[in-house]
Amino acid sequence: MIRVLDDAGALAEAAAAVFAGEVREAFRSRGRCAVALAGGSTPRSTYRILGETYRSSVPWERLDLFWGDERLVPPDHPDSNEGMVRDELIERLSIPEANIHPVRTLLGSAREAADDYQAELRAFFNLAGAELPRFDLVLLGLGEDGHTASLMPGSEAVGERGRLVSVCALEHLEHPRVTLTLPVLNAARRVVFLVSGQRKAEILWRVLEGPPQPDELPAQAVRPDDGAAWWLVDRDAASRLTDGETAGESE
Ligand code: 6PG
Repeated sequence: MIRVLDDAGALAEAAAAVFAGEVREAFRSRGRCAVALAGGSTPRSTYRILGETYRSSVPWERLDLFWGDERLVPPDHPDSNEGMVRDELIERLSIPEANIHPVRTLLGSAREAADDYQAELRAFFNLAGAELPRFDLVLLGLGEDGHTASLMPGSEAVGERGRLVSVCALEHLEHPRVTLTLPVLNAARRVVFLVSGQRKAEILWRVLEGPPQPDELPAQAVRPDDGAAWWLVDRDAASRLTDGETAGESE
């Protein structure tokens, strides 16, 4: 499903409504809810709206928050996805620390942080053997190179199928990254991409309407077992898409 919103503000409002709806549905049908959050800049305003406008309409005190990926920096570093979510969302709500599951980036190396996060997932979801964690909702962004989470083109993390959490440490990255792997993303009950701005128009068109190149465009490899990912995009980002100029929904 691709939903084109008029602008970044409308996209953030729509994303907040989808987030709240998916969370409420998870509690209604399963009695619990675990979400993996996107980092970067696009979801900031969605998190702020959730913290300000959905305080009473989401059972935040029962929600378990994880991250789809993280940079290997301390939580108080300006590049930290944990820090961004704490500033925009968690600080505005009373979510018990026991329900907040960040990547523990201060443990040491990226691999140590990845191993620790993987152990956290295995314990939380009570996984045995090759079982995969099933998040109720995964929010993802889209990089201009076609990456999502920290599954960067050319990184071994893209092809990782045996781990739940991998490391991405490429020359051009300012910090090593820790990321959920594709099997985990594709096991989610609902995956929602948030894409905003003219600078994403080309890559969004390549990912959604270009030829399949999942190694070069890792976002194309996100094909949840439970059904197609949802794309919430603004008009600028959608400007290259067929009929991208018209607001509305398309399958
Ligand atoms: C990160 C994200 C990453 C992000 C895209 C888009 O840690 O940076 O997980 O995948 O979603 O790079 O970033 P923007 O929203 O800043 O454009």
